[in-house]
Amino acid sequence: MLIAIEGLDQSGKATQAQALRDRLRDDGKRARLVSFPDYGTAIGEEIARALQGEREHSPEVMQLLYIANRYECRDDLERWLSGDLTVVCDRYIASGIAYGEAQGLDADWLTQIQRFLPVADMTILLDIEPSLAAQRKSSGRDRYERDLALLGRARDSYLRQAEQPGWFRVDGERGKVEVAQEIAEFVGRQF
Ligand code: TMP
Repeated sequence: MLIAIEGLDQSGKATQAQALRDRLRDDGKRARLVSFPDYGTAIGEEIARALQGEREHSPEVMQLLYIANRYECRDDLERWLSGDLTVVCDRYIASGIAYGEAQGLDADWLTQIQRFLPVADMTILLDIEPSLAAQRKSSGRDRYERDLALLGRARDSYLRQAEQPGWFRVDGERGKVEVAQEIAEFVGRQF
């Protein structure tokens, strides 16, 4: 089972992904948490430099870097999934589509070039307004986090994607305990 947690920056993805991994383990399942981008690889380092403004890449190149960064992990993901592990991903394929679309890229192209990655069985969208993202992090923001219009377009893409089967939209503006409970109940129903 591959479960992706998606949403805008500051929507609580890291907290909720960890809480879900812990909850699955408490329920006796083998679970592992993976985070994208994986900043620990050479491609991940390049992404970090670009986010801090040290490098200039076009939107296509940026999303291709993020996608390559996921393909770097494909063999591991496939091995873990075939080994009966539940993998919880803090951002996955849908982030590339949401942020890519927000930068004017074609959603079909973004989907096609990611089609050889393991498909998420469930994608949970922690939905928040871009203004809340800015409010929750008022300093030290990277170039995407500073751009509220871009975050608004990324949210529109997420909401459109969330109409597909396998998606679950959660109101991410509430407290973390409440959100974690709703996610745990939803995931529990799918096993
Ligand atoms: P992070 O804050 O979750 O580490 O992600 C850094 C930024 O990268 C965030 O603003 C979203 C963006 N992003 C993409 O544009 N495409 C992707 O595929 C991923 C995983 C992240």
